Amino acid sequence: MHSAKRRILVGVTGGIAAYKICELVRRLRDRDVEVRVVMTEGATHFVTPTTFQALSGQPVRVSLWDEAGEAAMGHIELARWAERVIVAPASADTIARLAHGFANDLLSTVVLATAAPVFVAPAMNQQMWAHPAVQANVATLRQRGVTILGPADGDQACGDIGSGRLLEPNELRDALMASFNNRTLAGTRVVVSAGPTYEDLDPVRFIGNRSSGRMGFAVAAAAREAGADVTLIAGPVSLPTPYGVHRVDVRSARQMHEAVLSQSQNADIYVGAAAVGDYRPDSTASEKLKKQEGQPLRLELAENPDIIGSLAAMPTHPFLVGFAAETQSVADYAQAKLQRKGLDMIAANDVSAGRGFEQTNNALHVYWADGDAVLPDMPKTELARQLVTLVAERYRHARKSNS
Ligand code: C5P
Repeated sequence: MHSAKRRILVGVTGGIAAYKICELVRRLRDRDVEVRVVMTEGATHFVTPTTFQALSGQPVRVSLWDEAGEAAMGHIELARWAERVIVAPASADTIARLAHGFANDLLSTVVLATAAPVFVAPAMNQQMWAHPAVQANVATLRQRGVTILGPADGDQACGDIGSGRLLEPNELRDALMASFNNRTLAGTRVVVSAGPTYEDLDPVRFIGNRSSGRMGFAVAAAAREAGADVTLIAGPVSLPTPYGVHRVDVRSARQMHEAVLSQSQNADIYVGAAAVGDYRPDSTASEKLKKQEGQPLRLELAENPDIIGSLAAMPTHPFLVGFAAETQSVADYAQAKLQRKGLDMIAANDVSAGRGFEQTNNALHVYWADGDAVLPDMPKTELARQLVTLVAERYRHARKSNS
């Protein structure tokens, strides 16, 4: 019999960020989680098994050929014991071996043998992280349903600055704990729009905006995690499709309008996270516009349809969640938009001073008719989970009041 505690297997691989995993083990145990640590041989060059044994209160396994360890809890047993497996820090080598299904050490064998959700937290030099080989392996893992946590941007142990830092231990802990949350959107259909829209001027130029699509993609992933059937209408972005999410790619606001209306017909919830262009060029030139020396070029712009507004105008429509990116008087504008557009909720973010757009972190202030909630600065993936929990709560509340 297993104890009633949550059971997490932590796989540590060889990288300097291994020292942060000592803290992760501590923080997990603070939450009453039973932790078992498996290390690769490389990891033992950075932190000793004795350290993890003391912190986890359990024997630490390194080798597949450790007779005493196998006798106590064999590798298959260990794989079954785990309710979650996290590989952190995940080196480029371990990521490659996991992506290709290797089973040449204890950790890779346990990852193949487990039915538990797997989390991988990469940590490596920014140049290595950016390498197409690493990116392709990460994409393979993602497609298979592995949750990739991070990496974060910033200073690196090697002196570089860039993407490849391990997420902080408390962020890793929160992501693991959030994955145990109830499936608050089970049985619902959710449509999410994300990213910018591009309005073509001619075959090579367009009017666009700085939305990266990260927030909307994170919302789609979080809604799927919460049990919803999710359709993501994506503007032009270069982001991988979250696991289990149905994706429709569009380019212009009018294409997004059409896709959202047709996908929302029997949706329960619509989250408009896309930064829809308000205007488009009156006409799109079929050939590249030529420069007229010494002449200004005047563009006539036509108004785009208001997508979320069109949904709100329909007699029966999904529960509507809008976003408001503002640079000033955030609360006032957001509340006014909630009422004017006839939305059920609005998530406001302050995009002044470079916040919000193109960032991995964000903060939101969420408003509904008779309440509000502040979701402080955190990674967009975690922020999306908290937003989805809030949306699920208000959606159920609205349904109850209508029935
Ligand atoms: O007015 P603003 O663009 O700030 O409104 C933001 C909200 O309205 C977002 O949820 C966005 O997706 C939605 N919107 C829309 N169609 C537009 C403009 C904005 O659905 N044409």
